[in-house]
Amino acid sequence: MNRNTDFIPFFRPSLGNEEEQALLAVLRSGWLTTGSEAKNFETEFASCIGTKHALALNSATAGLHLSLEALGIGPGDKVITTPYTFTSTAEVVRYLGADPVFVDIDPDALNMAPTSLENALEEDRKGGKVKAVIPVHIAGKLCDMEKILEICGEIPVIEDSAHAFPVKRGNTYGGAFGKAGIFSFYATKTITSGEGGMLVTNDDHLAKRASLMRLHGINREIWDRYTKQGASWEYDVVAPGFKYNMPDMAAAIGRVQLRRAEVFLKRRREIADLYRKLIGDQELLILPKKAGEDHAWHLFIIQVRGIDRNEMIRRLGEEGIGTSVHFKPLHIMTYYRKRYGYLPEDFPVSLAAYKHAISLPIYPGLTDSEVERIAETLIKTAGYLKGKS
Ligand SMILES: Cc1ncc(COP(=O)(O)O)c(C=O)c1O
Repeated sequence: MNRNTDFIPFFRPSLGNEEEQALLAVLRSGWLTTGSEAKNFETEFASCIGTKHALALNSATAGLHLSLEALGIGPGDKVITTPYTFTSTAEVVRYLGADPVFVDIDPDALNMAPTSLENALEEDRKGGKVKAVIPVHIAGKLCDMEKILEICGEIPVIEDSAHAFPVKRGNTYGGAFGKAGIFSFYATKTITSGEGGMLVTNDDHLAKRASLMRLHGINREIWDRYTKQGASWEYDVVAPGFKYNMPDMAAAIGRVQLRRAEVFLKRRREIADLYRKLIGDQELLILPKKAGEDHAWHLFIIQVRGIDRNEMIRRLGEEGIGTSVHFKPLHIMTYYRKRYGYLPEDFPVSLAAYKHAISLPIYPGLTDSEVERIAETLIKTAGYLKGKS
């Protein structure tokens, strides 16, 4: 095999003529930063998800931060999430001087295990320090939101929906179950704006505060002050806000991607089904469970058994197949380990899932023949490594 020319990357973005034209129009308009494209993106996104508010931001990390800030979370407070996630989910808690509390995951879905959440809340009952819960829809599979909301009662739930657009359970979209939902449009996500995020909520107070804080704590929408005739230049600063707004260049790309989202999702589902058909039930390769409507298939995370995961990744790379690992759990990362004194075994399900996980390529531009080659190479390499062990 020619290793260089035949490489199948872990991810390729699906961008075409429509995105190019939309971006070009913004470049030629003379208005690059937050303006009418961002406003329209918000309206269209809110109408898709079915929430009252959608705020376009420059990342999902910003959205997580803003939603916790709007809830008034600060030093001494605790926020529950899982260690099996990207660091954004927990770092935003630290931005506010509060502390993340980790609970373990369910071994099948890799999402927050409701029983672990229940135990953590029971432990907190006397102190009452837990001020929010952030379940993460890992790989795009929706958490058991009904159960989580029931367990949380009055405690606000912020959904980390960075992987989960556009999926729903029943009539409710992921991101619209809790107090707020946060989406990511980072380059590798199910839809992209290069970098970007969206905060959705039905809560007027949360929307108002997040809207204020996303642009320096300035007390009015000032993006029109240079464009509208007669618009006043004057503004006031009422809080020490952040710089989290989405520029129109990003929003223009995001709007096109939003229109293509259902087509992308259909293709991701087809690829997940094809992997399942080609790899099937294997002793050495455990595939994610078949899912219905409630999976966005942002990631296709398999678990290897009885073979060395890192060696497998190395060999797949040599065979021209890009893979990745989601996630190295936060409790074994230096910062969280040192600050909170965690041991690897403190979250055994997350640790085991991480040790055996490999994320395979899954994106709309991946062809059937590429999926076939990945499946074939995977089976062959697993068999070879098993024979060596
Ligand atoms: C689960 C999860 N949450 C949040 C984020 C942060 O997204 P962003 O890069 O848009 O800030 C990511 C990014 O990869 C993620 O995987």
